[in-house]
Amino acid sequence: MKSRRNFVKTALAMTATAGVGTFSTLRNALAASTTDSRIDILLDEPRGTISPDIYGHFTEHLGGVMYDGIWVGLKSKVPNIDGLRRDVVEHMRKIKAPVVRYPGGCFADSYDWRDGVGPADKRPRRTNFWNGAENDKSPANHKFESNEFGTNEFVHFCKLIGAEPYLAANVRSLPATEFQHWVEYCNSPAGSTTLADLRAGAGYAEPFNVRYWGVGNESWGCGGNFTPQEYAVEFRRYTAWLPQYVKPLSLIASGPNTDEWFWTREFLQEIARKGPGQLREIYGMALHHYAWNLSRGKTNDWEKAKGDAIQFEPVDWYELLREGQRMEGLIEGHWQVMGEFDREHRIKLIVDEWGPWYRPGSEATPGDILEQTPTLRDAVFSALTLDIFNRHCGKVAMANCAQLINCLNSLYLAHEDRFVVTTVGRAFELYAGHQGGQSLRAEFSAPQVRYDRDGQAATFWGLNGSASVQGKNMLLTVVNPHVSEPREAEIVVRGGAISSGSASTLTHSDIHASNTFAHRDAVMPSHNPLKLGGQFVYTFPPASVSALSLQLR
Ligand code: AHR
Repeated sequence: MKSRRNFVKTALAMTATAGVGTFSTLRNALAASTTDSRIDILLDEPRGTISPDIYGHFTEHLGGVMYDGIWVGLKSKVPNIDGLRRDVVEHMRKIKAPVVRYPGGCFADSYDWRDGVGPADKRPRRTNFWNGAENDKSPANHKFESNEFGTNEFVHFCKLIGAEPYLAANVRSLPATEFQHWVEYCNSPAGSTTLADLRAGAGYAEPFNVRYWGVGNESWGCGGNFTPQEYAVEFRRYTAWLPQYVKPLSLIASGPNTDEWFWTREFLQEIARKGPGQLREIYGMALHHYAWNLSRGKTNDWEKAKGDAIQFEPVDWYELLREGQRMEGLIEGHWQVMGEFDREHRIKLIVDEWGPWYRPGSEATPGDILEQTPTLRDAVFSALTLDIFNRHCGKVAMANCAQLINCLNSLYLAHEDRFVVTTVGRAFELYAGHQGGQSLRAEFSAPQVRYDRDGQAATFWGLNGSASVQGKNMLLTVVNPHVSEPREAEIVVRGGAISSGSASTLTHSDIHASNTFAHRDAVMPSHNPLKLGGQFVYTFPPASVSALSLQLR
């Protein structure tokens, strides 16, 4: 573990390199060398169980996600299991991936599931939904869908990693019968239907038992440009009398974009107009929030407002974290609106797309659209988002980071035989232990981050995180968002005592650091035993994500 002196040295060095070398920052760095923060974990105040599904993923037929990312093909020289990239399978097992959403995204509302079943060499080739966004460097199989990877391959992938499949049905361009038939294909018992026989013919006699079904995607946009009322009518129609087999289906409605409260309100109002019982058909409402506007209030233009993934100033670092922190208010706000109709709160939030979205330019593989290279900033962003979900585990039943590989907030980047676990993937490793735990109330008290935001004094919280417990094992995850100052915090467990523990911390002296094909281990967590006895103090390095595993007596 670095000494306090080293932290101050690091803080001063970073102050200089980060270009914020003011006297006040220097003074703050020195002041921070004494215990100035405190974390109280209240063992007697559980907030509910953290659904493992909060640690879910999202994969779409988009750019390099499926082809080259997950699917390398049966004849590939790239190490694989049944055509699936072995590195991805192994790492996803390690992080206990609970659920994976597929096949989109916008692609889902253009997709005919029948194209992706049956003998692979007989499957039709189609123009991919994202074709118009592809460029000269994009390979042909990103532009034109070979359908080599379809439902069977996806469910097989989920089974290999131990995750539940979550399928998004096409509401924009297929009739409701096709949704019913896709459910039948996946879930009807062996030998019971023609579609079950088709599945068995591909080697899958046993039903897939897919529980999670999305009813369209972004139905306010690429999923049909519906009004909330129109979509509610479609939702009722598509979900009326779906075939049921062993397990009930959990149906997920296309929900709001960020803070579009009207969507949540008017959709539920229209659903309930047919009778409040209709609300029971809905397992969850999908909320999407991307942190894309880094213009600091200058514009809302989708192209102009985006920032760069790897070249940024400390003010951009904080701006991204502010955009991420909005998630907390979005969960609280939409939850409140949902409660106007669903007073018992049976319907949960499913945040099935979240993450930062930068302008093009940092692709690990030129031609992979929407691919960006995550840095330490994205690990911190992801960690603070997962902490928010943990704190709101009574409201959020599932969340899916967008996306798993070679796209947006990727856990992995891959091309041909190259593979790397990004900083985001490393953050997911540190947080995996929260799955299924009891979320505990934890109070964080730390000096705020103060910085200059275009001539205006701005602040951001100084330390934040979440805690959970399973039996005698407690996990405390903490983010220090300050680009240059460590935070030394006293940690107190109220209602219990710690006997031993260890800490893992992800950070780097350069806030722009990333894991790349050339430097795969540039940003790796350090693991250290904790020295306990008397006051329990831990120093959270600048720009860091920490996971403290604590054993209770
Ligand atoms: O994740 C990329 C795209 O973002 C998805 O296809 C769509 O749902 C969202 O707009």
